[in-house]
Amino acid sequence: MTPAAFSPDTLARFKQEAAEYAVQFIRSGMTIGLGTGSTAAFAVRRIARLYANGGLCDIAVFATSRGVWREAEGLGLPMVSEELPREIDVTIDGADEVDPRLNLIKGGGGALLREKIAAQASRREIIIVDEVKMSPVLGTRWPVPVEVMPFGWRSQERYLFSLGAEPVLRTASGGAPFRTDQGNLILDCGFGPIANLEELAQKLESRAGIVDHGLFLNLASDLIVAGPGGIKHVKAVTSE
Ligand code: A5P
Repeated sequence: MTPAAFSPDTLARFKQEAAEYAVQFIRSGMTIGLGTGSTAAFAVRRIARLYANGGLCDIAVFATSRGVWREAEGLGLPMVSEELPREIDVTIDGADEVDPRLNLIKGGGGALLREKIAAQASRREIIIVDEVKMSPVLGTRWPVPVEVMPFGWRSQERYLFSLGAEPVLRTASGGAPFRTDQGNLILDCGFGPIANLEELAQKLESRAGIVDHGLFLNLASDLIVAGPGGIKHVKAVTSE
């Protein structure tokens, strides 16, 4: 199924359905992680409505980008300190590409580092997508965003070429290099279908100057997919 198969309105409806389904797992008293992107935005607004009308109380909220932080605060949600002094009970976030093992490519919105920090600090990471994000093998549909320090970044570009990628420096709307919330650059790396995700992740993590990458391996606990046939809820298989 290609994205062209659905109109923007239909895709927006799928995103909203997935988000609102996920919010049922949020309870009063929880610390909640808010993801970044157009799908997670539906969850942010739903949580804010529930909090405002008393359907949720005694919650604390942690946001995965400055933009979402501002939005959540503006909607009146109670924010936990940026130091994140406690574990997150549930994070609800989107993804750009999802494989059958619930591995993900994330970072289309540039928030991959904060999103990974939140995912690793969460007891439960619920990923919400429309069904066009599903893919047999990661890298088939989406490049892997790689966040690099501006210092010496051309060296990281050469390194990524040597790993078989075609890195493209992400630009902002005016054409200047896109900057993450940390002031770093993003190289979007087309690898094509990635045969060994763990090996690639390890190679990216071993390189100084690469701050983080958009491969989220074994981090999702739940996947909620919305499509024309309704909602599908898949739980990650754990070794326990
Ligand atoms: C943000 O950096 C990303 O990881 C998003 O979660 C991802 O790009 C999905 O975004 P949409 O929900 O807008 O497709």
